[in-house]
Amino acid sequence: MNPDINASRLLDRIETFAKIGGNSHGGITREGFSPADLQACARLSEEARLAGLDSTVDAAGNVLIRRPEGVRGAKDRRVLLLGSHLDTVANGGRLDGAYGVLAGLDVMQAIVESGAEPAYEPVLVAFANEEGALFPQPFWGSKVLAGALEMLPDDPCDHSGRSLRHPLALAGGDLTALRTAVWPAGSVAAYLELHVEQGPVLEREGHTIGVVDSITGRTQLTVEIRGSAGHAGTTPMEMRRDPVTVAARVVLAAEDLAREQRLCRVATVGWMEVQPNSPNTIAESVRLTIDLRDSVPSSLENAEEALRTSLASLGKQADVHVDIRVDARAAPVATDPTLRAAITASARELGLPHRTLPSGAGHDAQIVARIAPIGMIFVPSIGGVSHVPEEDTAAADLVAGARVLLRTVLRL
Ligand code: GLV
Ligand code: MN
Ligand code: MN
Repeated sequence: MNPDINASRLLDRIETFAKIGGNSHGGITREGFSPADLQACARLSEEARLAGLDSTVDAAGNVLIRRPEGVRGAKDRRVLLLGSHLDTVANGGRLDGAYGVLAGLDVMQAIVESGAEPAYEPVLVAFANEEGALFPQPFWGSKVLAGALEMLPDDPCDHSGRSLRHPLALAGGDLTALRTAVWPAGSVAAYLELHVEQGPVLEREGHTIGVVDSITGRTQLTVEIRGSAGHAGTTPMEMRRDPVTVAARVVLAAEDLAREQRLCRVATVGWMEVQPNSPNTIAESVRLTIDLRDSVPSSLENAEEALRTSLASLGKQADVHVDIRVDARAAPVATDPTLRAAITASARELGLPHRTLPSGAGHDAQIVARIAPIGMIFVPSIGGVSHVPEEDTAAADLVAGARVLLRTVLRL
C-alpha cells in the first residue's frame, strides 16, 4: 500500500490540540512548561501510543516518538528527525509549531501502516519551549538536543525568578541530567520541519508550498531599568528618577535601530513589566524585552552594540540603572541544498505550486543545524498573520504540506 497522509485524522488532531490552552480571547496560551503545555505533551504521547508508536521524554522535556523496536529494520541506521514544537506564545494561534508536530505524527503513522521502509529511521520530536514565552530561554529543547548547553543558563528562571527545575521535572525532564539529552554529531542524517509561513508571501503569490532557503538570525535581550519609586503628586519633576520615562525612550531607541538607522531588519519590544504598576506612584523599575532580527550576523552585532550605547546614555541622562541580559542569540542559517531539492521534487510530483523563500521567524531547525543538515517546508498563512488567535491556513494546504513532508521522508 502506498503511504499517504490521513487528512481527517490530521485535521481532527489539529482541532483537538487547539483546545489545549484555549483562552477566552479565542487564542491559545500554552507557554512552554505551563500546565497547558504539559497537557499537550501528555496528549501527544498518548496519541502516539494509541498509534502503536513509542514515546519518551528526554531530560530537556522534549517528547520523542519512534517506531517500536520490532518494526525497525537495521538498528544502527541514522535518524531522520522530524519535528517542531507544541508550546505557543501568549494568546497565539493553533498552528505555529503544533502543525509540524501533528503532521509529523501522521507521517510516522503512514509509514508504519503502509509497511514502507525509509532509508533513515524516522523519529519525531516535539521540542520543549521553542517560544521562550514564559521561561525566556527560546529554543530550549533544540539547544539541549544539539548540545548547545553553553548557550543556556545553569539555573534557568522565568520572568518572576521561578526556577525551571520543578516545571521541567513535572514534564518528565531533569535539569541535572541535560547532557543525557544531547545527540552526538553524525547521529542525525537530516532534520525536517514543516511549519506555517507566518508571513504573506505564499498566499499573495498563490503558492501552496514554500521551500525555505534560510532562517533569520535573532538576538533577544531583557532590559531592566531601576530608578526611585515616589509619590506622583509630591515629587517635583526635577527630583525624579523615573524608569518608565526611560523605558519609553528605550522602546523608541530599539525601533530607531531598524526603522531609521537600518542596522537590523526588525526590532521589537513585545513585553514590558512595571513595578509596582500603580497609577499614582512613580515606578521603581521597568523590565522589557528587545527582539532584534537580521539575516547577516554582523548586522545583529552592530545593532546590539548601537543599542547598548544608546541605553547607557539614556540611563546616565536620567540617573537610573540600566542592565541588559542576553536571553538568546540564534545565528542565521541556510538550509541544506540536497534537502531543498528533495522538498522541491516532492512538491512538483504532487503538482503543488511552490517557491523558495527565507524565513523571517525563528525555528528549532536553526539550532539543529549545528549537528545536521536541515530542511524546512512552509504552507501559506491566511492574511500572513501569526502569533495571534487569527493565525490560520486552509485545510487543503495543511494536508498538502503533510504530503510533501511524507514524500520527502520517503525519497531521502
Ligand atoms: C518564533 O516563533 C519566533 O519568534 O520567530
Ligand atoms: Mn512562534
Ligand atoms: Mn514555530
